[in-house]
This record gives sequence, C-alpha cells and structure tokens, in this order.
Amino acid sequence: MHDRYESIRQALDAIGQTHILRHWGSLQSSQRTDLLSQIEELDLAMVTRLASQADDGAKVDFATIEPAPFRAIGDATLPSFRAAGEELLRGGRVAAFTVAGGQGTRLGWRGPKGSYPATVVTGKPLFRVFAEQIAAAEKRFGRVIPWYIMTSPINDHDTRSFFQDNNWFGRSPRDTLLFPQGTMPSITFDGKLMLETPSMLAVNPDGHGGSLRALAASGAVEDMKGRGIEQISYFQVDNPLVKIIDPAFIGLHATAADSSGEMSSKMVRKRDAAEKVGVFCHHAGKTIVLEYSDLPKSLSEATDTSGMLRFAAGSVAIHAISVAFVDRLTQGDFALPFHRAKKKVPYYCDTARCTIEPDAPNAIKFEAFIFDALVLASKSLLLETSRVEEFAPIKNSTGEDSPSSSHQTQSNRNGAWLERFGTQIPRRANGDVDARIEISAATALFEDDLAGLAAAGQLPKRIAADTDAVV
Ligand code: UTP
Repeated sequence: MHDRYESIRQALDAIGQTHILRHWGSLQSSQRTDLLSQIEELDLAMVTRLASQADDGAKVDFATIEPAPFRAIGDATLPSFRAAGEELLRGGRVAAFTVAGGQGTRLGWRGPKGSYPATVVTGKPLFRVFAEQIAAAEKRFGRVIPWYIMTSPINDHDTRSFFQDNNWFGRSPRDTLLFPQGTMPSITFDGKLMLETPSMLAVNPDGHGGSLRALAASGAVEDMKGRGIEQISYFQVDNPLVKIIDPAFIGLHATAADSSGEMSSKMVRKRDAAEKVGVFCHHAGKTIVLEYSDLPKSLSEATDTSGMLRFAAGSVAIHAISVAFVDRLTQGDFALPFHRAKKKVPYYCDTARCTIEPDAPNAIKFEAFIFDALVLASKSLLLETSRVEEFAPIKNSTGEDSPSSSHQTQSNRNGAWLERFGTQIPRRANGDVDARIEISAATALFEDDLAGLAAAGQLPKRIAADTDAVV
C-alpha cells in the first residue's frame, strides 16, 4: 500500500493536486484502498488539460455555417423507407437504447428519472411507457427487440431495483441489459479536484456522449453483434412520447442512398429563436449540433425571405446509430470532446466535517454530448418530426419541459389521434386539448392502429371537457 500511495502522491504532486490526500492519516484501510483506486482510474493528464482550457470541443467558423438540410414531414419517399425499416425489424436487426445515467437535478425527483410517473392519467413511470412500446413493437414484428439501458454508478443500483420490483415490466431480463456509464471528476473554478467525502472524489456521470464508450466497455456492442443487431434506436429517458421504434426513420437511416447508415437524427422546428434546444447546422461538409448557448444571437434570430427562422432544426435527442459505427469509433482510446458546465457539486467541508450541498454553482462538471459523434459519421441524415407527435420532455419541475407541459402535449397528441377517427375532442381557445387523454402502446403503437378499433366501434364518441380518458 505504501508504494502505491507514494507513486500516486508523486503523480498528484506534479500537477498540484495532493490536497485530495489530506485526510489520508485518518482513513481506514478500506477507505484508503477505495481512494487510491479512484485516483488510479483518473486520466490525470486529461484532467490537467481540461482544467486549464476553455473547452475541448471543435471550433466552429460562424462565417461559413449553414442550416442543416433535412427531410420534411410528409416527405414522399418515407413510405418506401418505412417498408425497409419494417424489414430490418422483422429480421431482428434493431435494438432500443435508453440513456438514463443523468442526475435529473432540475426535476428534483428522488430516484432514477425513469421511475418518474409520466403519463397523464394513470401516471405510468417512464420505463414502463418504454417497455410497453417495445413490447408492442416486438409483437408486431415478431422479434425480440433487445433493450439496452445506460445507467450511471450513481443510479445503477436504484434503476436495477426498480426493474426488479416491477418484474422487469414483463420482459425477459436477458433482453433488458443495464450497464453503468463512466464518470468524470468535478473541479473547482480554480482547477482543483474535489472530495465529496474524505475518501471519495466528487465525480459526475460523463454525459450522454459517454454512452458510446460505455456501450463498448460494457460488452453491449459485442452482445448486439452476437444477436445480429445492426441498428440502435437511441433515445433519452425523459421523453414519454418518443417513438422508439419508427420503421420509416430506421429504414431511411439504414438504406437511403444519401445516408452512411452510421448516425442520423430527428429534429423539430424550433418554437422561436429563444428556445433552449441544440440546433442542427451544416459546417465544413458535416452535420453538427450547436448548443443554444453557443449559437450567436445574429444566427439564432436570422430569418429567411419568408420570415422563418433560418436555423430552425431543433434537436430532440433521437438518433439512429449503427452498431458498426459505435464499434469503429470505440476501437482504442476513444472519447468525445468534453464540455464544461458550472454546476452545484456537493463537497466535503473540513471545518464543518460533513458534505455540503451548495446553493449556487461551485464547480465545473465535464460532460460529453452524443451529438458530437455526428461529425465523425461520413454522412448524416436529418428527419423532421412533429413536436406534438414525439417530443414531450420532462426536465424541470415546473414551467417549460415539465410534467405539466408534457401532460398537455401527451393529451394533445392522443386527442389528435382520436379526432382523426371521429371522436369529438374538447379544445381550448389556444387549440390545446381540454381533457387528460392517455393511449397505451398496447392499444395503438402508431396512430393508424386506431383504425381497427374505430371500425369496430370501440373508440369513444366524445370526450367531455376536463375529464380523464384512457384508451
Ligand atoms: P439532461 O441533459 O437533461 O441531464 O440529460 P439530466 O442529468 O438528466 O438532468 P439535469 O441536467 O441534471 O437536470 C438528457 C438525457 O441524457 C441522459 C439523461 O439521463 C437524459 O436521458 N444522460 C445525461 C446520461 O445518460 N448521462 C449523463 O451523464 C447525462
């Protein structure tokens, strides 16, 4: 132990970080081992480099940036791509992949975000919503759709317990694979590593961009290859309306002549210039996503001749990614660039002798973003989708992107589906559906699935204002 300690101390000394060993004298043997192991896992050269620079991402030339081209809703080629996607699904070539390693601090829910009660009437948790969709797609296409779920070391145990407590939502655990992502150390504003307890560094999950490395490191990529999976449907844990299995998108991505089949994305038109979503752009021959905070105002507010926003392709964090692409990228020492964010990070206070939860940002977290992989694909397609059909994120506890805004969008989508088949739906002056309406994936995976029920007279004739309806 002493030699190990000494070599680590010297390495830390060389970069001015020995303060993380300051409690060494009072630690028990097992705590010492834990701390040394944690430090050994750090890439100290990378930590030093990240601590000393503004950002790790590629630099963008705003003078040459253009809006990214996309296929609009209703594109005439989509039906043929739908058939190609269905073929891949019937062949068992598609997996579902949820990134669920985030800390969900804005929502403030105690427990993994996937356990949050998300649906508008019955309050089904997000993981159940996804499990039901996948089950309905498995039934439709007659094949198992393996579901990979990335957790983090912080929520892995609770996420597994949630699945176990819910009997894996009726799925086989063999086809429901959870694995934790990696972590990054948080640092103070003056570049110092931090302790959360005397024997534990303050770390955070390494961002949804850590998912590519985690897919490879966990053995998920090998597992996919063993099952003959070719394409991964990537989505976030916080969007109950995501169409996890979208044959048209999968077929377009995998077979279109202008696609590399490596990584494609869905987008929605931005509500307004100020909306806080990443924007797809075209830069140096590639599709990229710029965070809303990185897009200069002159560009985010620019309009075309018809007065529409030029940079309007908002990211909804839905991607199709090939297994071969993940496999190619993750050979060797691969990592996506890290972005810095000022956040509130719990830290150990020596004078108070306890861990403090700060009220204001006190540290820098480093996170990689999945969309930074787009530039590594030889080509990348973008498909427009409708916000009401597919984007009802739950991120904040109130206001925009909150449970209540998500509930409204869910009811709007479900109301529109029913309306198309003749149900009378109450609407408010602003067009919102004035009722809480839930449609389970077992009833209708896609809108057209309601046709059979409508023909059999099994859909409600009308839904009264301000009532609950479950179809
Ligand atoms: P967000 O960017 O919304 O972050 O994640 P978050 O951690 O969930 O929430 P806040 O910012 O603390 O409030 C978008 C998606 O990426 C996943 C999240 O679980 C969510 O599905 N994610 C995020 C990870 O899987 N790992 C991460 O390190 C970060």
